[in-house]
Amino acid sequence: MGDYFKKQVIPMRSNSCGELRSKHINSKVQLCGWVDRSRDHGGVIFIDLRDRWGTVQITVDPDTGQNLFSLAESLKNESVIQVIGTVQSRPNESINKKLQTGEIEVLAEKINILNRITNNLPFPVSIHDDENVKEELRLRYRYLDIRRARMRQNLELRSQTIKAAREFLENENFLEMETPILTRSTPEGARDYLVPSRVSPGECFALPQSPQLFKQLLMVGGIENYYQIARCFRDEDLRSDRQPEFTQLDIEMSFMSQEDILKFTERLIQYIWKKIKGIDLILPFPRLTWEESMERYGTDRPDTRYEMELINVNSIMKDIGFKVFSNTIKTGGSVKCITIKNGNELISNVRIKPGGDIFSEAQKAGAKGLAFIRVRENNTIDTIGAIKDNLTEEQKNNLLKTTNASPGDLILFGAGEVQSVNKVLDKLRQFLANELKLIKSNNNLWNFLWVIDFPMFEFNNEEKRLEALHHPFCAPNKEDLGEDKTFWAQKLPNSRAQAYDLVLNGLELGGGSLRIHHSELQKYVLQAIGLQEKEVTEQFGFLLNALEMGAPPHGGLAFGMDRIIMLLAGESSIRDTIAFPKTQQARCLLTDAPSNVTEKQLNELHISSTLEDSE
Ligand code: AMO
Repeated sequence: MGDYFKKQVIPMRSNSCGELRSKHINSKVQLCGWVDRSRDHGGVIFIDLRDRWGTVQITVDPDTGQNLFSLAESLKNESVIQVIGTVQSRPNESINKKLQTGEIEVLAEKINILNRITNNLPFPVSIHDDENVKEELRLRYRYLDIRRARMRQNLELRSQTIKAAREFLENENFLEMETPILTRSTPEGARDYLVPSRVSPGECFALPQSPQLFKQLLMVGGIENYYQIARCFRDEDLRSDRQPEFTQLDIEMSFMSQEDILKFTERLIQYIWKKIKGIDLILPFPRLTWEESMERYGTDRPDTRYEMELINVNSIMKDIGFKVFSNTIKTGGSVKCITIKNGNELISNVRIKPGGDIFSEAQKAGAKGLAFIRVRENNTIDTIGAIKDNLTEEQKNNLLKTTNASPGDLILFGAGEVQSVNKVLDKLRQFLANELKLIKSNNNLWNFLWVIDFPMFEFNNEEKRLEALHHPFCAPNKEDLGEDKTFWAQKLPNSRAQAYDLVLNGLELGGGSLRIHHSELQKYVLQAIGLQEKEVTEQFGFLLNALEMGAPPHGGLAFGMDRIIMLLAGESSIRDTIAFPKTQQARCLLTDAPSNVTEKQLNELHISSTLEDSE
């Protein structure tokens, strides 16, 4: 660090606060930083001086001069100062083992105030204060929050993670490219942020939900290996892992099979984890087909750090006397369950009956009821519903075998349409894993897995049309589609896509696919999601043209960088990995954006508000 400062033309400082050690004793140093705190110890003032690299104790002795001493006495926390002094060893009794600079102190000879504190601080910034500050305040005064250890470490980690990704991709001869921010809407499934055009009255740009189409066009342009640290914008409901603007590590490659892409991506992730965490991830990552993932976990982003898999018991329940179950199955629905080991001891009836917390979780996920069975001594079973009386001995034994349940275990059931059963049991599985602390807290479980073979489409019940599960540029599975074009329109709706997601500990880190590189097939897919021929040409003519002019086979993926950094930092919200994030209401508390604009600006943009004046 010292060298860096010495290279400055007129150095304001000779060293950083954090680097001083015993070897610097007797050196004259010039330091800059913030007053972390100061204490008056019977005539001697101790100032903790903090900069990005750490904290060092400055000692101000009254013998050095009254002016210096009075100035030191007047310093408020977070004042910005320059200190000139000499490093000396601390007396044995005041050595601070917790501080890296704890063996030394700097005896001040001169202090220059670079900036005074002229406003009250809304919360303490010192490294000695705990973290307990409301998020709203942290966001409103983010610059102060960033001065604190937690955010500084997270932002450093962010920078290092992006650097590691760049390093890997640059070594593999990838080219970093930028794509437009003012563009047209790319269908990634969320609402667009629109930017009205001044020069084209009535028309709007959309901010990119992802650089999807541009990166494909770069492949048509012969770039072959592209990456971008890309800012993306999506107007969607926010959660702890979603922001309206977020950062993707966006990658695209030509002449690569799906297998090549998955293997390459695994090496990239392995490189990042090694660089940042020093951890050797074992490759290849496990793979699950989408169908298997939905069947066993009820979700396409399963957390495999704990068991409690979903078990389908249709074959046992279809004939039982308990009509809620048998009728559900007869009308095309499903009955599935999860087995909670030792659940009888861990979970009381109050919690699983209406009004209980576990019942409420199920209800929030859409369940109408929550049937359960408790397995008692000698494999007798106990329920409060009617299941017990309607199970034959054989059915019961079969059930216990299939669910791998033994005395002491609790089995929770979901019945209904398979999607809603999956949703309920997935939520319960996650809720119970947290409640019962099934995830070991040593933070060393990095359960990566690929989910592959997604369906091309899902049915949008509200709009009564097919919707692309990823986006409509994913290539269909060749076997599902077949060679004969006359069957394409018919086969497409039930085809799988050559698409994949990388999941880590229950969170979707990234996703991608091989892309369609033939114009005709692309048209079929766009029409399958309900676009008329005219709309296809209007909205995607530029893409179809490009695909007709020598588009190579290509594919890629994008990672949510904020999410990767969140997991690497051990945080539970991506807001803690972004310097200036938005709130759940998509607002910036620091600048108070979005804000009103003037009538003149609106007029120039040819727009007027339809919002009724509330005054
Ligand atoms: P997808 O929509 O899956 O794919 O996005 C890729 C990854 O970006 C992250 N992500 C988000 N992170 C924070 N806030 C959000 N609102 C948000 N939305 C998504 C997730 C997600 O896995 N064009 C395709 C990629 C491709 O096919 O190459 C795409 O954008 O971690």
